[in-house]
Amino acid sequence: MLIKNIRIENADIGSDVRIQKGMICEIDENLTALEGEEVLEGEGGLLLPPFVDCHVHLDTCFSLDATGPNLSGTLFEGIRVWSEYRKHLDPEEVKERARRTLKLYQEKGVQYIRSHVDISHDLTALRALLELKEEVADEIEIQLVAFPQDGVFTSQKVRENLEEAVRMGADVVGGIPHFELTREHGERSIHYLMELAQKYDKLVDLHCDEIDDEQSRFLEVLAACAYETGMKGKVSASHTTAMHSYNNAYCDKLFRVLKMSGIHIIANPLVNVNLQGRFDTYPKRRGITRIKELLEHGIPVSMGHDDIYDPFYPLGNGDMKEVLVMGLHLCHMMGYHELNDSYRIITRYGADTLNIAPERYGISVGKPANFNIFKSGSFFQVLRSREGIRYSVRNGKVREREER
Ligand code: FE2
Repeated sequence: MLIKNIRIENADIGSDVRIQKGMICEIDENLTALEGEEVLEGEGGLLLPPFVDCHVHLDTCFSLDATGPNLSGTLFEGIRVWSEYRKHLDPEEVKERARRTLKLYQEKGVQYIRSHVDISHDLTALRALLELKEEVADEIEIQLVAFPQDGVFTSQKVRENLEEAVRMGADVVGGIPHFELTREHGERSIHYLMELAQKYDKLVDLHCDEIDDEQSRFLEVLAACAYETGMKGKVSASHTTAMHSYNNAYCDKLFRVLKMSGIHIIANPLVNVNLQGRFDTYPKRRGITRIKELLEHGIPVSMGHDDIYDPFYPLGNGDMKEVLVMGLHLCHMMGYHELNDSYRIITRYGADTLNIAPERYGISVGKPANFNIFKSGSFFQVLRSREGIRYSVRNGKVREREER
């Protein structure tokens, strides 16, 4: 297949891209179609690598009909509602809800997902999602995080479930240090989880400091651990919303440690703007980590949808552009170049966070032909017009075509 006249990652001029056997084999101006070659006219539209959602909970998505509504909209009611529902999970029902979520993602050009899976009560959801992951592997790549939602030091059973989940094939060790019983338990949990990840050669992604308490400072512990263990590039911290409330002097010191550690930060703006600030009157904090400043310091930030139509977040449509737009507004990242370049947060920074091998992701000759094409020629215009993808290409095949 030959794709004519597309602008690769905001390029000023159009290029042609040739695909053979599912791989990008040629990129140049004015390539001539071979005999019998299918030609797709890009018409000067933007071509981007696939979107990456670095943080979602496939086990909870689309459960809101079954769990009943979260009337207050708070995290605490969400946890209470979900904790009741998870006692009676059915593997087929988990898969069916996850398939609905994945369909949304595919329609929106997302091809890589990291999903946390609650293993605190039992391993039903993880077992179901490990099966689904294999079933859909050609279409969409999923990493699964063994997530001890209740904290690892609340019971021996959670620790047993966690280690069993890792043995079963979870890709990533999860955790939630700010939710452990005390600050000391939180710190211990980080060391415990890092050791578990090293033992089984897994990645690490903790729900870290997802609270408005400026004293919640587990991110520095995690970053120091990543630095000292040499797990550079394999450790992520999700949410880190307490950073919103840190003083600037502390943040300056923290950024140095973050940079040294090679840690990845994952922001979840849609969900955190909803769940954080709930103890404030006015002015109300907006519960978002410091995306702008982190990026300015060279610390990678990616994003996640976190929840879709579940007790923690009642809306959501799988569109990473919606997640991004919320984050850009909240973080005052509305300058032209900030907007135009922001696609990197939901594409290649996300791929780095997921530790995807560089030869498997991105737009250059010799890489798999995975990408999205838009009608507009720049990401700024795509965001401005709230444009959907025109074509989504996976392994050289056009999977989704959206009405223009
Ligand atoms: Fe989460």
